[in-house]
Amino acid sequence: MKGIILAGGAGTRLHPITRAVSKQLLPVFDKPMIYYPLSVLMLAGIRDILVITTPEEQPLFRRLLGDGSELGLQLDYAAQPEPNGIAQAFLIGADHIGDDHCALVLGDNIFHGQGFAMVLRDCIRRLTAGEDGAVLFGYPVRDPERYGVGLADESGRLIDIEEKPAAPRSNRAITGLYLYDDQVVDIARGLTPSARGELEITDVNREYLKRDQARLVDLGRGFAWLDTGTHDSLVEASQYVQVLEHRQGVRIACLEEIALERGWIDADACLALGAAQGKSGYGEYVMNVARARGAQAR
Ligand code: G1P
Repeated sequence: MKGIILAGGAGTRLHPITRAVSKQLLPVFDKPMIYYPLSVLMLAGIRDILVITTPEEQPLFRRLLGDGSELGLQLDYAAQPEPNGIAQAFLIGADHIGDDHCALVLGDNIFHGQGFAMVLRDCIRRLTAGEDGAVLFGYPVRDPERYGVGLADESGRLIDIEEKPAAPRSNRAITGLYLYDDQVVDIARGLTPSARGELEITDVNREYLKRDQARLVDLGRGFAWLDTGTHDSLVEASQYVQVLEHRQGVRIACLEEIALERGWIDADACLALGAAQGKSGYGEYVMNVARARGAQAR
């Protein structure tokens, strides 16, 4: 299973904050936004990941994440020169995907909830077994008209999907995390651009729906899927992370901790990664996690 993080786009809704820096590099409380979607792929067990950015910003993403080897990952980079739609990620990433399955996550989507890793791994198992061709995740929102909106039957089969409908048939927004089997590149190649000139992810999903191979997994109200698209929602996402981290003493989307838990790095390597950031609370946390796993105290 390959991963793609789509972190392009002009971020115009957040101007002037994003005039000089990509939205996905902005802080969400204690870490850059892209840590959150990257943590989702890592929790799903995906290590071979393509990061798609604007051409101008690519050096900044490389400076932040490097080749991923410090975290036991393989990160590659590709550019999306113009924001021509989410589904363009499959054309840009065609070589990276090859004939593998693929998880796409949008670089500004934040997911948080108990047991999410288990849910993801179960969905990937179904995909790998050929039981589903596409897995989408639905989340109840107050304003579904701002999103892709899906409807499923009782068994979870997707039966309807619309992009930003004026009169939504459900309150289930389709989140920016998509799991696909090996048909996705061919499907993306067959798309025609929408009225707004974009290759729409909803058209990819509609094709899977036509083939009766799409599943909609309900994330439910106990889960958090946070928006970062406006000045208010960006601050609210930071506040959410801050409240939970302060209350629980754990960090959300701590990449070093996930890599350690997965066994992709050992405790000493984790300690060194924490020490390199040791003047921040985040770095201290990484060091404590490493020490709890037996790294030699420094
Ligand atoms: C895109 C998709 C939409 C999805 C949303 C999730 O919308 O087109 O279907 O619900 O991402 O973040 P955009 O944010 O590009 O308007």
